[in-house]
Amino acid sequence: MGKFIIKGGETLSGEVNISSAKNAVLPIIAATILSSGKCTIENCPMLLDVFVISNLLRSLGAKVNIDLNTSKLEIDTSEVKCIEPDSELVRRMRGSFLIMGPMISRFGKAKISLPGGCNIGTRPIDLHLKGFKALGVNIDIGHGYVEASTSKLIGDKIYLDFPSVGATENIIMASVLAEGETIIENAAEEPEVEDLSNFLNKMGAQISGIGTDKITIKGVKSLTPVIYKPIYDRIEIGTFMVAAAITKSVIKINGTNEEHIKPIIAKFSELGINMEKDNESLIIDGRKELRPLDIKTMPYPGFPTDMQPQMMALLCCVEGTSVISETIFENRFMHVPELKRLGANIKIDGRSAIISGVKELTGCSVKATDLRAGAALILAGLAAEGETEVSDIFHIDRGYVNIEKKLNGLGASIKRV
Ligand code: EPU
Repeated sequence: MGKFIIKGGETLSGEVNISSAKNAVLPIIAATILSSGKCTIENCPMLLDVFVISNLLRSLGAKVNIDLNTSKLEIDTSEVKCIEPDSELVRRMRGSFLIMGPMISRFGKAKISLPGGCNIGTRPIDLHLKGFKALGVNIDIGHGYVEASTSKLIGDKIYLDFPSVGATENIIMASVLAEGETIIENAAEEPEVEDLSNFLNKMGAQISGIGTDKITIKGVKSLTPVIYKPIYDRIEIGTFMVAAAITKSVIKINGTNEEHIKPIIAKFSELGINMEKDNESLIIDGRKELRPLDIKTMPYPGFPTDMQPQMMALLCCVEGTSVISETIFENRFMHVPELKRLGANIKIDGRSAIISGVKELTGCSVKATDLRAGAALILAGLAAEGETEVSDIFHIDRGYVNIEKKLNGLGASIKRV
């Protein structure tokens, strides 16, 4: 298990290139099961999670070729036959459950190890199963497995009690080849759901209402493999925006879609940060005195929960009192005790964190408890006086491509040991 050693206090400058979105590419990789043949994903982020889902597909019989030099991922699903993926791999990553929808669709059956909870919450799958059942799937749960079987998928109207990203994606993938029309109401509107739908439509699916809370899927007979380039990672963009703000620096972020980062831009404006758009780039000027603010995480287009820990790291350094309310995951404050070790002043009150900005954070040893918590600790380390050691960085490698190399390219001092 590696560590990052960060020397705080460096000013950043220059440009950074954003990778494609982890949370877009994972369902897209799962969706390749829906056709028989070779799909190519261009500009694929070479991340731990991508390697895990690739191995998962290999365990089903797919041929996966990962080209690290060109960031190209080729997946040939012609030989996929097995309906039971490697359970050890499934348990390593919750996103693995995204292969359930495509497998039901292609084979009419699937058997997958039940995904457990994770550090940020219990993360049940009831809404995924509610959708599958509505499409005519029998579900059996026992001995730690979910077994699904159907003789025919038939479209239906499905109302989601919460706009779950994963459930929306799984139901879309299960219904693209179903007979008739499926309507998902109160669907997730996240850009990653939109990207998956665009990928599927390129394969020949008929999905409309993309990017809205009512998605309609007209079943088609078959899909054909395609070449696709996923969207930029809005959470990586936000993470670098915080890097500029927390180090009071000016940086240029290349590969930004303004629409996708609207809620982050809105909060940065409230903070008092200058931002300038330049085609697909964003210049962040973090040199001004910042104002405290309140944030409530919400489904898109609300403020993303995946940016909550990073924003908390920043607000720890902003004079005055800020409040962050986490409404998506019940246990996403694991970074709080670690930020406090660095000298932050944070009180937890139920699902809210009250942050009183301090003059200075001071470096020490901290532990990444999950992906975004780890990112928050790196950011805090950039601002802290002295040396910060972040351990358990495998969490960070799950979702950020070469984060230390990208930050060092901007002038940070981070060593991977
Ligand atoms: N939920 C249910 N029942 C379900 C599904 C979800 O109650 O059947 C609840 C969850 O317990 C949670 C809330 O709904 O409280 C939101 O969960 P959602 O299903 O929307 O999240 P997810 O699909 O499991 C994806 C991302 C997460 C991101 C969330 C929210 C992927 C692979 N993961 O998870 O990403 O936080 O959406 O935007 O797309 C991350 O990248 O760090 C990360 C955790």
